[in-house]
Amino acid sequence: MVDRGRWNHPPQRVFPAGARAMTPEGNGHVTDTNILSLLEPAALLDPHPIYRRWKEQSTVLWDSDIEAWLVTGYDEAFTALRDIENFCQDWRRIGVDTPPSLLSLQTLDPPDHTRIRHLMLEGFKAADPQILERTVQDTLDELLAAVEGEKTFDFVAKVAEPLTLRAVTQLLGVPEPDKDWFVPLSNTIVDGMDSSLRPECYEPGVEARAKLTELAGEWLKSPLPDGFAAHVVKRAPSAGVDHEVLLNSLRVVLQAGFQTASRFLVTGLLTLLRIPSENRVPVDTDQAVNELVRFAGPVHVESRACVQDTVLGEQKIRKGEIVSMFLGAANRDARVFEDPESLRWDRTPNRHLGFGRGPHACLGAQVAVQVARSTFGTIGRRYPNARLVSEPVPRPNVTEHGMHSLQISFRDDLP
Ligand code: HEM
Repeated sequence: MVDRGRWNHPPQRVFPAGARAMTPEGNGHVTDTNILSLLEPAALLDPHPIYRRWKEQSTVLWDSDIEAWLVTGYDEAFTALRDIENFCQDWRRIGVDTPPSLLSLQTLDPPDHTRIRHLMLEGFKAADPQILERTVQDTLDELLAAVEGEKTFDFVAKVAEPLTLRAVTQLLGVPEPDKDWFVPLSNTIVDGMDSSLRPECYEPGVEARAKLTELAGEWLKSPLPDGFAAHVVKRAPSAGVDHEVLLNSLRVVLQAGFQTASRFLVTGLLTLLRIPSENRVPVDTDQAVNELVRFAGPVHVESRACVQDTVLGEQKIRKGEIVSMFLGAANRDARVFEDPESLRWDRTPNRHLGFGRGPHACLGAQVAVQVARSTFGTIGRRYPNARLVSEPVPRPNVTEHGMHSLQISFRDDLP
């Protein structure tokens, strides 16, 4: 998850005087992306027909509505995510003045990024994986026991959200916030990532980030138990990490971990429940979970800004232009994945981009896979006839897909 937003904000906000966001001249492309159609309910549930239409035009396509390049090809997305010389996360490199409240692990580039990333990696290592695994399984058992007799229940509110909030705060070694306070704020941040398409979501997203940073500040006021947060707070000064960057980055881990992991449990389970029960297998290996991330991962867009004129695919990209990588589209690129529209639990190799790539690749991938393995494995084994009760209600998020609710049932004795 990207703190500033996974793709560009409206130009007037992101591109103050001096920065550029302009229509490329003379590239000869007729751009007919109709990008707002991504917000239609059918596309929120399945955007791939739109991605395929874009790919037919070009795998690197200029969109004049949001003034950004839409990258749907695997090789092009892979290249841009790794090429820190030409494509930046730290938009100060293209002259955009970023406020200190937005400087974090996700919005810095090397060498600043390297320092905070190494520190956060140390934090992940300071957390005890066995305690985390036990916490996840115990919480899951408790949450499933509470709903298994219900005729129908909402998997989002009753399982995915409470489970991941517990897992991520346990990982960080910090107190668990009140779910009814935290979840709406956290969703407001995700809405803000789509502000190119929904400009009204930008300011509330910034305000919600400030509130979560305040929460991270509160954690530091009392002694923390040994673990992730305690370790990084202690080590930050000697690691040369600024206090504000540290707080913002702790917020990022909480927000990124909660949102992506909980949304994946929902998009993943929805995908599994659409498979007829006689053809299902428990998704309880790293390999199977990774195939589900490739096919139904929640993160659909990651953006970078171009630092100097360069070429991506066959397109000339100019300094100051934004490239938005559509990871979901790249993950179904037939040039890389055989039979990309099918789930193949034994797919090898599986170099999907669902966890990103390059210097900003996901730091929590292992944790995410572990939570998903426990959840899908347990549900698959314990409730082989689990079913969808009604069509899910998607959240209006293009960058990070998710559902308002997913009504399901574990009862096979009821119609
Ligand atoms: C299935 C679940 C998850 C998915 C699909 C996912 C996906 C991603 C992606 C695509 C990125 C790359 C962002 C970029 O290129 O700008 C990323 C970065 C990140 N993720 Fe995850 N993530 C997941 C779970 C988690 C969890 C559980 C945590 C923490 C506990 C986490 C923490 C992070 C952090 C801190 C970064 C930023 C790394 C950096 O900028 O250096 N993620 N994630």
